[in-house]
Amino acid sequence: MGLSIRAFRNGDRAAVEALWTRVFPDDPPRNAPSVVIENKLKVQPELLLVGEVDGVDAAAEGAGAVGARIVGAVMAGYDGVRGWIYHLAVAPEFRRRGYGAQLVRAAEAGLRTLGCAKVNLQVRASNREVIAFYRSVGYEVEERVSMGRRI
Ligand SMILES: CC(C)(COP(=O)(O)OP(=O)(O)OC[C@H]1O[C@@H](n2cnc3c(N)ncnc32)[C@H](O)[C@@H]1OP(=O)(O)O)[C@@H](O)C(=O)NCCC(=O)NCCS
Repeated sequence: MGLSIRAFRNGDRAAVEALWTRVFPDDPPRNAPSVVIENKLKVQPELLLVGEVDGVDAAAEGAGAVGARIVGAVMAGYDGVRGWIYHLAVAPEFRRRGYGAQLVRAAEAGLRTLGCAKVNLQVRASNREVIAFYRSVGYEVEERVSMGRRI
């Protein structure tokens, strides 16, 4: 079973919104998937990526899909200094097949194309599983204080 990764297209909107709503149910309204997608399409839209499996693979999962089904998504951005990865998600029933790792590699490849040499990302300290995932794809915890301010 293979994952095909490509840039987001407008027809993907409902599927990506459904995926992110399912995987990030506690996100605040400012992070509503529709808002995140809309904003991302204004800045480096080529770094909004989706991963899909074909209908046969999706149907084998009992998903009842006929055509290709989006089972993963990720966003990245390069600000001229660092690249950032956001909103990586794989549908629960498609996890532990390497799809998350493939999405990260694809996001990194897109960032490199823009000249980016270093990627950062933030994970809640309590989210041990995702930290384990990112370690497995080569990321290290860097001892920094992450600061932020709403403007
Ligand atoms: C994080 C996430 C994208 C991983 O997707 P995935 O497709 O299951 O990841 P992969 O199959 O590529 O995993 C690669 C390796 O990461 C590690 N890993 C993945 N999930 C793990 C978990 N839950 N616990 C511990 N290690 C894990 C393993 O070493 C795994 O290799 P293995 O399956 O051979 O043991 C997925 O679990 C997810 O969508 N989580 C919820 C969303 C989220 O919190 N995203 C991050 C927000 S920044």
